[in-house]
Amino acid sequence: MSFTSTAAAPRTTTAEGTDPQWWRQAAVYQIYPRSFADADGNGIGDLRGITSRVGYLQDLGVDAVWLSPFYPSALADGGYDVDDYRDVDLKIGTLDDFDVMISGLHSAGIRLIVDIVPNHTSDRHEWFLEALQAPKGSPARDRYIFRDGLGETGEQPPSDWTSIFGGPAWTRITEPDGTPGQWFLHSFAKEQPDLNWRNREVHEDFLRTLRFWSDRGVDGFRVDVAHGLSKDLPANLPSQAELDATPKDGAHPIWDRDEVHEIYREWREVFNEYNPPKIGVAEAWVDSARRPKYASAEGLGQAFNFDLLEASFEAEAFRETVAFNLELAAKSGSSSTWVLSNHDVVRHATRYGLPPKADGEEKAGTNWLLNGGASPELQAETGLRRARAASLFELALPGSAYLYQGEELGLHEVAEIPDADRQDPTFFRSPGSSVGRDGCRVPLPWSSEGASFGFGPEHAHLPQPDWFSGHSVQAQDTAEDSTLNMYRRALQLRRELQGEDTLEWIELPGAEGSSTEVLAFRRPGGWICVTNFGEQAVPLPAGEVLVSSQPLRSEVLPGETTVWLREH
Ligand code: BGC
Repeated sequence: MSFTSTAAAPRTTTAEGTDPQWWRQAAVYQIYPRSFADADGNGIGDLRGITSRVGYLQDLGVDAVWLSPFYPSALADGGYDVDDYRDVDLKIGTLDDFDVMISGLHSAGIRLIVDIVPNHTSDRHEWFLEALQAPKGSPARDRYIFRDGLGETGEQPPSDWTSIFGGPAWTRITEPDGTPGQWFLHSFAKEQPDLNWRNREVHEDFLRTLRFWSDRGVDGFRVDVAHGLSKDLPANLPSQAELDATPKDGAHPIWDRDEVHEIYREWREVFNEYNPPKIGVAEAWVDSARRPKYASAEGLGQAFNFDLLEASFEAEAFRETVAFNLELAAKSGSSSTWVLSNHDVVRHATRYGLPPKADGEEKAGTNWLLNGGASPELQAETGLRRARAASLFELALPGSAYLYQGEELGLHEVAEIPDADRQDPTFFRSPGSSVGRDGCRVPLPWSSEGASFGFGPEHAHLPQPDWFSGHSVQAQDTAEDSTLNMYRRALQLRRELQGEDTLEWIELPGAEGSSTEVLAFRRPGGWICVTNFGEQAVPLPAGEVLVSSQPLRSEVLPGETTVWLREH
């Protein structure tokens, strides 16, 4: 697919000679900035911390960084509550720091994708503050979704809707004269009022934001809650039960409405003003069959596919997931994306080490967002072993691999966070039922000792467990079989071996009998990836071993192991 610029004179070139298709098979590393590296010692990771670790990212061999929100924020939702879309949070840096960081990344050949959060602002955004001061029916209120309450004095919310983080989706405001007033919609926390995308000003402001960061050199945007922007709320709101029963086929009042793509067509025009065009990747939790639209060349260009993340660690599940998603990618003309971990889910080393849910509805590996991995039944070694096999499988696939900071260290979810230290709004809004996502957001261990394991000169904003020591970059750097070195080798090979974005499934001679547990595919250029999902070893297929997820000490492929082989 080529994104041809329609603008007469494309405005900037971020990296000389950049291939406009660079994203198709990129390995993209997600940085959750507040937990990556802290240069100024305030306990919160920052942009200068990222700049200081560009060498690490280069050695790791990633093609791009996706930076989670770094905008001014009260951190009601880890930065996804944005006060100002065109600035940097003072706690983590300045615009100048941003410029230094991006030029450091670009000089190392690493592109930058920034997170953009268009479904909602924070409740401290100047627009929302203005809406609170303005009267009912005013243009300032029209940028958000305000409604009168039900009941005699409007004391009941406009509907019984619940927010995604738990608790009610409507919050009542106090009018400027001090009386209880209208209610506003927030699909997430109450500090995240939903924007009204029927308002033209909202469109214009985001186009301005896209140009602001594009002009500063960013290479693309990860679009938060991309399927939620367009809403069509009738005068008589349906109940939550009715909403839940409404098919998400393009006409649901809130999610995945067809007209959301009109927004992305406008964004695409902005992307194409640049040479090479900027890229977009949609975070859209939609029915898989509806994903290609987000990923189309007229739209954002790519969309996250979370199917692998949700698949159980089984050959058939992985095969079906990959085959289906490659077909979908072909439909959109985009490349597929692959994700095993991110800042919203329990780390995959932990997911794969947890037993199936008690009700048997979910298989091992799929019970994510479950108690932050606090289960005493966690089999940590099994989880890590499977995670390494799954990661190596993922990195061999055609398409873009989105990696999450710390997975290259084989980190488990941190379960031992005291309640008093928890930050995630899902913990506060669903008391008792979910500990939330803090366990995958604990600051990275860079060294094996020290106040915050090298994260910064002092403390870390979330407590790090003692076992981080053995997982630190320092501990793994020179250990040949470490998870870090497996990722480094695989990422380097991925660049060297990269060809057409296709694969061919193959049956291996000698794997009969165990074939239901062994999955193998060939990539163009004569190399194959073989994963043994079973627990028993199988004969090692012929070929030169390029990288494996476990040490190979004899002519066997151990259980729960992936190997890449060059065919003779
Ligand atoms: C982000 C979450 C965030 C939510 C609300 C997402 O899907 O990935 O971290 O809490 O949007 O912005």
